[in-house]
Amino acid sequence: MYVCICNAIRESELRRVARHVPGDAEQAYAAMGKVPQCGQCLCDADCILDEEREFGLQPAAA
Ligand code: FES
Repeated sequence: MYVCICNAIRESELRRVARHVPGDAEQAYAAMGKVPQCGQCLCDADCILDEEREFGLQPAAA
């Protein structure tokens, strides 16, 4: 699923970047060589970054 249509950024790409790049969506996009265009995605992208950083690195429950 695309998070950012303007830059064709997939949710999986954004989650991967969240693990290596601190900061908000604009900083994550910059790390991918992208710049927000319309800005409609930034709020959702920030939520995905927060979610991945909070829950994404925890090991799966056995
Ligand atoms: S949808 Fe991401 S900048 Fe437009």
